[in-house]
Order: sequence, then structure tokens, then C-alpha cells
Amino acid sequence: MAGTGVFAEILDGDVYKYYADGEWKKSSSGKAVAIINPTTRKTQYKVQACTQEEVNKAMESAKAAQKSWAKTPLWKRAELLHKAAAILKEHKAPIAECLVKEIAKPAKDAVTEVVRSGDLVSYTAEEGVRILGEGKFLVSDSFPGNERTKYCLTSKIPLGVILAIPPFNYPVNLAVSKIAPALIAGNSLVLKPPTQGAVSALHMVHCFHLAGFPKGLISCVTGKGSEIGDFLTMHPGVNCISFTGGDTGIAISKKAGMIPLQMELGGKDACIVLEDADLDLVASNIIKGGFSYSGQRCTAVKVVLVMESVADALVEKVKAKIAKLTVGPPEDDCDITPVVSESSANFIEGLVKDAKEKGATFCQDYKRDGNLIWPLLLDDVRPDMRIAWEEPFGPVLPVIRINSIEEGIHHCNASNFGLQGCVFTKDVNKAILISDAMETGTVQINSAPARGPDHFPFQGLKDSGIGSQGVTNSINMMTKIKSTVINLPTPSYTLGNGGHSKL
Ligand code: G3P
Repeated sequence: MAGTGVFAEILDGDVYKYYADGEWKKSSSGKAVAIINPTTRKTQYKVQACTQEEVNKAMESAKAAQKSWAKTPLWKRAELLHKAAAILKEHKAPIAECLVKEIAKPAKDAVTEVVRSGDLVSYTAEEGVRILGEGKFLVSDSFPGNERTKYCLTSKIPLGVILAIPPFNYPVNLAVSKIAPALIAGNSLVLKPPTQGAVSALHMVHCFHLAGFPKGLISCVTGKGSEIGDFLTMHPGVNCISFTGGDTGIAISKKAGMIPLQMELGGKDACIVLEDADLDLVASNIIKGGFSYSGQRCTAVKVVLVMESVADALVEKVKAKIAKLTVGPPEDDCDITPVVSESSANFIEGLVKDAKEKGATFCQDYKRDGNLIWPLLLDDVRPDMRIAWEEPFGPVLPVIRINSIEEGIHHCNASNFGLQGCVFTKDVNKAILISDAMETGTVQINSAPARGPDHFPFQGLKDSGIGSQGVTNSINMMTKIKSTVINLPTPSYTLGNGGHSKL
């Protein structure tokens, strides 16, 4: 159970502690932040409201710990990460329980998130040992005007202190996707979890604590964004920010100093369906892509752009599948569970009302109970409706009927977002042309958008983000190249004696 057994030490009364200097601590603020259960809409957990002074201390410890961590052999960093991954998987049940209670993630998906996170940590350890163990060797005479008098040795060095800010929808997985690359590359890290998802994240951090990482290397500060949000992102001790979330990331990028940024800020992923597509395959992927975790994924299918000639048939197939989705509490592992907050539900409702007023066809009745919104397919959506462009982050999916492929590509590219997209057709040549024309970081051919497997590159164009994620890219992003150049007094060429002479 959450907060019991090995996790008992992270709880003080009914308030979860924050983690700094290798210890679980109570904030001197004496204040707590309540976490509302999306299903019951009552306070489920409380976390410490950390102060700016406590953030300063965490930053100082992170800076000091990083110096000795950078001197820790790579194999040893990897060994500790493997240990943390094993502990994380061992405790998947209590962590999954937190995900169910804090963010209403369906029970099985919650367990999957923890297991996937353990796998990500292990993979990162293995990848880090390989790619950080290699550098480059360059010689000077390949550039005009130079003789071979300079040998350049390059290696990847840590950046320092990484600030990791994951979102509510994957508070464990999208935290470890930042923590593991940071640590294997020799950085320290300060984690600011989302308020909803914070207790899951604190349990995950305790698994790293149990693995035995050095004091101060990892900190996890909780609290109000208004008190410590800007303070963290503008803190002079931060050397890199890895953020996943909404358009707050745009504000962060404007305020952050001259440091590397890794940002994933959502998407309006289009699903383009051609006339020759396998409509059963499309319908299954629209259900999986549009409605899993109630549409609260950056990579969810967020607009279907279907050729008019097959639109009726596709809509019927999707309607039939929606009718089979279970709707209810996450504890029962329902397909559709309450969205994360009342304000989120209100926002989604606003998009639905706008579509209603402007004449969209409702394939189901709109139904809401508290934060629970029943799955809804909106047909005949037009570009003047908000739902055609905005990200509902809920179980509501618009269908726009198109008369040409160009029309579909145009709608996709007119979006401010550019995370992923997908195209369904049996003609792979056409699919490649469409993929090349779509202004998104990834295009899936004949499958719904998705970030995983977690070692694949993951990046958004336009307002969807900065930089690229995925295990390898994140490790590289959290390092800098350092060169050492050996200058020789005279040119030196290897003459070679590669072959055996027969003479
Ligand atoms: O919403 C976060 C984004 O990274 C989605 O991940 O695994 O659901 O495709 P995934």
C-alpha cells in the first residue's frame, strides 16, 4: 500500500515529505498542498509546500553532489540505475495505486507505467555505458591548409544540475525519462513533480533512494507553482531544463537563461485516412489513439481527417467500438475514467458546446458526471470550430471530412502544434509522400501516434517543443562536447603497413 512498508518514512502524519540531501523532510513552511482525487473530487493526499529557501538548499546540494558523481565510474552509475529499476518494478503495486488515486489512470495502465519506467531506466543505463564510453578522434589535415599536427579528442561531459519537470499524465514515466539520462551522464537533478502525480513521483524517488544514490544527487521538491515554479526555472543553479507539459513551457523558455532546454508541449495529432485504408485497422487505432487514458496523452489522435468517400463507413465502425468502451472509476480498470480536474472537464465541455452551437454532428449524447466525461465522437466538424484546432485532453474526438489528400495535409500543417500524426493507406509510396509533407516530429504509417518504444526519437515541431527525446537523444542532450587537442611540433603521418607483402 502507498505510504506503508518501505514507503512509511516518506509520510509524516497525512502529509508526504519532500526529498533533499538524501533525506525525507518536512517543509519549514508548515503548509501543505492538497491533491484532489479526480474520481471522488475529495482530497486524497497532501504534499509539502516547499519554500524558496528549501529550493536554494536543494540546488546547493545538487551542485556539490554532481562534482563527485561526475567522478563516479560509468559502470557504477549504471549499476545503481539497474538497482533502482529493479526496486521500482518490485514496488509497482503501491506506485500504481497512487497513479489510480491521483490522476485516475486505469488500474492496469498504472501498473504498465511503472514497469515501463523500470525498463526505461535499465535501457538508459545500458545505452549510457555504450555511448558515453565513446568519443571522437579527429586529425587536422582533413581541413584545407593544415598538416597533421593536431589530434583532437572529444568526449561527452555532464552539464551540471538538471531541472526535471514532468506532467500529470505520466508522473513516473516522464520523470524517469529525464532522471535516468541525467544521472547516467554524470549530472545531478532536481525534480519538481506535477501537483497531481506528486505522490506517485515521491514513491518513485524513494526507489532511487533505496538503491543508494549519493546524498544530494537527486532532490524532489513539491509545492505551489506560484511560490516555487518561476523560482526553480529561473534559478541560477540550473544548467538544463527538461520539461513536459502544456504551453507553460513556452513561458519557461522565454524566461530561462542561456541553458539547454528540452521541451514537449503537446500536440493536435492528425489521423489522415485515405480511401484505400483498412477501415477496421483505422477504427481500432482511433479508439486506442483517441480514447486511451481518456485522451489525456500528448500523442493522442486529436483530429481525424478522413476522405469523404469512406467517412460514413469509418464513423459507423468507430461508433460501434465506442459503444463497447467501459466508463467509470479507474479502480475498475474502465477504459474511460474521470479527467484530471474539474477545470479540465469544464474546458472540454466548452469545446463541446462550441461544436454544438456551430453544427457538429454528435455521434453520441454528450454526458458528464463530475469529472467523468463519456466518450464522444463529433462528425462534420469544420475549421471554424474550436475543437478543430484546440487540444481537448479528454475523450472527445472531432472528425473532419476531406475531399483531397492536400486538404488533410493543409489542416495538419495549419496547426500551431507539430508533435506526431498518422496516415492510413495501403499505398506505402503515397504514405511516404504524405509523411514528408506533414510538419510534425513523427508520422506513424498505419498506426496511431505514440511516443514508445521509449528509445525511439520523440520530438515536436513548432509549438510542440524544443529538442528531441528518446533515451539516446536525452543522454546526448544532457551532455556537452569537450575537446582536448594535442598539438605536435612536427606533422606526423601513419604510413601504414596493413598488408603482408608477398615479396
Ligand atoms: O503525453 C505525453 C506523451 O509523451 C505521450 O506518451 O507513451 O502515451 O505516447 P505516450
